[in-house]
Amino acid sequence: MLKVLDRARLLVVTGKGGTGKTTVAASLGVAAAGRGRRVLVAEVEGRQGLAGLFGRGELDYREARVGERLHALAVDPDESLREYLARYGFAPLARLLTWANLNRFITAAAPGLGDVLLVGKVWEAATRQVRPGSGGPGAYDLVVLDAPPTGRVVPFLRAPETVAELARVGPIRHQADRVKDLLDDPERTAVVLTCLPEELPVAETLEGVAALREAGLPVAGVVANRVTGDRLGGRAARLPALARDPGPLAAAAAGAGAGAELDRAALGTLVEEARDRQRLVTRERRLLKELRAGLDGLPMVELPFLAGGVAGPEEVRALAGHLVPAGPGAAAGVVEEQELAPDRSGRDQARRAAGAGSGGG
Ligand SMILES: Nc1ncnc2c1ncn2[C@@H]1O[C@H](COP(=O)(O)OP(=O)(O)OP(=O)(O)O)[C@@H](O)[C@H]1O
Ligand SMILES: [Mg+2]
Repeated sequence: MLKVLDRARLLVVTGKGGTGKTTVAASLGVAAAGRGRRVLVAEVEGRQGLAGLFGRGELDYREARVGERLHALAVDPDESLREYLARYGFAPLARLLTWANLNRFITAAAPGLGDVLLVGKVWEAATRQVRPGSGGPGAYDLVVLDAPPTGRVVPFLRAPETVAELARVGPIRHQADRVKDLLDDPERTAVVLTCLPEELPVAETLEGVAALREAGLPVAGVVANRVTGDRLGGRAARLPALARDPGPLAAAAAGAGAGAELDRAALGTLVEEARDRQRLVTRERRLLKELRAGLDGLPMVELPFLAGGVAGPEEVRALAGHLVPAGPGAAAGVVEEQELAPDRSGRDQARRAAGAGSGGG
């Protein structure tokens, strides 16, 4: 993962729906920025999933600074079309028709063009050179793409190729070739798949890896997300005995001054909860072992399940910290929330205060 974070120019994050693509893309972005790279995290599905993770209400087609060396953007098909038409000299056409008509005409004439524009925009950001004094957006060392799910990612990334098959020469062909050069190059592009320690996602991840490789795309690794932590380790072996007789636990609870609230029934429930959790840990370990075996040497990293969910920059920073070894400045990518979104940070302070209150009581 470190090699990818330090060397790739384009990091494509895909995976089965709901397995953490957006969360992991944000965390990878924060981790890479923390390692000194200038990073852009881009989403292409118009879901506004990234915004909250960076403490923002919304992101748009403008590259917004969300942290030190960290920018984020929601690529907008409409805006990309305008940019595209302007770049290739079609601006007069855009003036002849109303925007809605032009958009309809183009989409009907070239299905898949929407994806071409989105991929084109990502490619443009990933290969942008600094133009000193241009006043425009700067160049990046790394673009992290929160990509469509595994089932759609190959046609999405290959859309420029597909459309360009109609155009043997000219600017569309030229751009498609450059996009393909970037996507096929394992020195510059890395595809990462997110996965959960559950049956279906594990199976789908292995299929996804095969499909991406089949398509010639450079798969760099898998992030196993939401992995339940094993808090008990070897001590879990004592759980069956404690379930039969929670006596020792009652003694420990009394010793800790909590005896009054923890009667036998309550302790029995606690032990059962612990056993359920341990069964989950065991099942997840087995599935992750299967996954690892199926990946056949492809790198895999694990991210812990955060019980409180992933609501914003704080949790993203925590996950980023798991992606890189601890060290000075590691995962220091996100600017203090106060600077970004006073409303959210106010809520957070309230939440923290409430948490501190209940903790004390
Ligand atoms: N490590 C984690 N611990 C706890 N919750 C997590 C973790 N990672 C992700 N989540 C939560 O899981 C849900 C799905 O995550 P996310 O939105 O990143 O997945 P996704 O693959 O982008 O989903 P979609 O396919 O809908 O775009 C979210 O509610 C997110 O907050
Ligand atoms: Mg998402």
